[in-house]
Amino acid sequence: MVLLKGVEKGAFVFFGNYHSRKAGELAANPWAALDFFWDTLDHQVRVEGKVKKVSAAESDRYFASRPRGSQVGAWASPQSGVIPGRDFLEKRVKEFEARFEGRPVPRPPHWGGYRLEPDRIEFWVGRQNRLHDRILYRRQGGRWVRSILAP
Ligand SMILES: Cc1cc2nc3c(=O)[nH]c(=O)nc-3n(C[C@H](O)[C@H](O)[C@H](O)COP(=O)(O)O)c2cc1C
Repeated sequence: MVLLKGVEKGAFVFFGNYHSRKAGELAANPWAALDFFWDTLDHQVRVEGKVKKVSAAESDRYFASRPRGSQVGAWASPQSGVIPGRDFLEKRVKEFEARFEGRPVPRPPHWGGYRLEPDRIEFWVGRQNRLHDRILYRRQGGRWVRSILAP
């Protein structure tokens, strides 16, 4: 689960730690899917495409807009790494708070955004007797081609 921060210039943007497990997986295989599911509405949107890092300037801009506590947390947490316990995290938070005291917290070089550039978007709507709607848009060259899939 990641927080979708926006859809910018046709790409879906999210942020995180470039040393995390998912970052390693995306480096090995940048083809990914985003799934948005609304249980009570019985709707789903699935987006597939290639993931790239956003520019350093864009990551800097978003990082600077985050609360100071989250900025320090990004330095303190070796995301996806095994840690001995909470004490370890709390100690690191104190260390980084001291390091950046009285000045803005810079973006860690291993923290930033990703943009998924879609080449396939499927809208799924639950219907009776499992005869659901599936509307697929595929990017072909410069245009989107629409088709209906069997549920
Ligand atoms: C509601 C919610 C929002 C989250 N948003 C993010 C996010 O924007 N970025 C992020 O790196 N992790 C986010 N996480 C944490 C991830 O789900 C995940 O635990 C973390 O990224 C490490 O994943 P990995 O070890 O597979 O790389 C969120 C978790 C939840 C429950």
